[in-house]
Amino acid sequence: MSKVKITETVLRDGHQSLIATRMKTEEMLPILDKLDKVGYHALEVWGGATFDACLRFLNEDPWERLRAIRKRVKNTKLQMLLRGQNLLGYKNYPDDVVEEFIKKAIKNGIDIIRIFDALNDIRNLKTAIRATKEAGGHAQCAISYTISPVHNIDYYLKVAKEMENEGADSICVKDMSGILLPYEAVELVKELKKTVNIPIELHSHFTSGIANQTYMKAVEAGVDIIDTALSPFGNGTSQPATEPMIASLQNSPYDTGLDLELVNEIAEYFAPIRDKYMQEGILNPKVMGVNAKTLIYQVPGGMLSNLVSQLEQQGSMDKFEKVLEEVPRVREDLGYPPLVTPMSQMVGTQAVFNTILGDRYKMVPSEIKNYVKGLYGKPTVPISDEIKKKIIGDEEVYTGRPADLLKPQLGKFRSEIKEYIEQDEDVLSYALFPQVAVKFFQYRQAEKYQIDTSLLDSEEKTYPV
Ligand code: CO
Repeated sequence: MSKVKITETVLRDGHQSLIATRMKTEEMLPILDKLDKVGYHALEVWGGATFDACLRFLNEDPWERLRAIRKRVKNTKLQMLLRGQNLLGYKNYPDDVVEEFIKKAIKNGIDIIRIFDALNDIRNLKTAIRATKEAGGHAQCAISYTISPVHNIDYYLKVAKEMENEGADSICVKDMSGILLPYEAVELVKELKKTVNIPIELHSHFTSGIANQTYMKAVEAGVDIIDTALSPFGNGTSQPATEPMIASLQNSPYDTGLDLELVNEIAEYFAPIRDKYMQEGILNPKVMGVNAKTLIYQVPGGMLSNLVSQLEQQGSMDKFEKVLEEVPRVREDLGYPPLVTPMSQMVGTQAVFNTILGDRYKMVPSEIKNYVKGLYGKPTVPISDEIKKKIIGDEEVYTGRPADLLKPQLGKFRSEIKEYIEQDEDVLSYALFPQVAVKFFQYRQAEKYQIDTSLLDSEEKTYPV
């Protein structure tokens, strides 16, 4: 039996899940030195939402945040989450952009890149895995966990084996909805350990109230690493809280060896920050509760609230139950995609259309059409000819790797924003979030101008004539 390792998510998924990713860099910096002393396996610090929120809401450069964290975290590995060929965005990028992004992420301080694809299509992970390893990083592949008649243990073992063959350095079971049951986890972890020779990590969310039990059983079954968030940003829709997990494993063969008192001190630093966001209304106390509905509908919590707001906007809340019944049917029609971004939004919207119009697939969003055409990757099971015909008529389905259809784009992105470039990384910020990045670049220029004039003022004052 070996010690269990812990990846701390307070700087990424913790605040993403509870306060819409609003934690500022200045709130992170004072505690990094202590976080670095704990002996965590890794600190998760970066991902799509953290990157987007930095630019969109905080007027911060996400690259600058990463460098600032790296400067202070000298011993602990820094980890990020990456949506395979989508990088941090919502569409496929050509290989040249994927390669450049990964090179720069690692150069600026990332050690471990957790790479996943909503469809578990290995072809969408290939370039990212190769680029990570070439840049000297650790390529972790994450399996998007879901429940369906075709997502059984054999399916997950096959995906894990493919990932290992493709060069993955470790594997994460990514249970974004918090629906992996404790005894299912035992089966899954045991079989994964038999099938692959690389470490297994478990990432779940407390949303439905079962993740603590699932972690304990997974630990007993031999999982190597678990993801937790310090208590002020733990539980609720976030990861299980760090301190109780460390305490639960003490004096057992799985003891993490981490200093509970030090971890507690760090949690105390984050508590007033959490309270501030609660007072500002950014932390909705609702997300701190247990949402057992997730277990019944097998729909992620975030998707449930999206459906509610879509229906409320259309004044059709009376159709809520009907939409929930339609979700699994749409999912079956589409070959059982896991309900993770972007598939969760797509399946949800189609279920709303089908229910409200009373005529299935009368209206189909272009994303769903592209998915059926094969442009997102391969569905878990083939889509029937009948459904294909309904959605894309006689159009041909593409069966190759989606990114093979894309021409290099880095040069185009670079020339589109040349007047704003202050660092190579700006091109990537723009590639991922074009409008938001330009707005930020303009803000940055204005700020610089202001700073320059104020310096000028003070200089005038300090030099008496
Ligand atoms: Co998560």
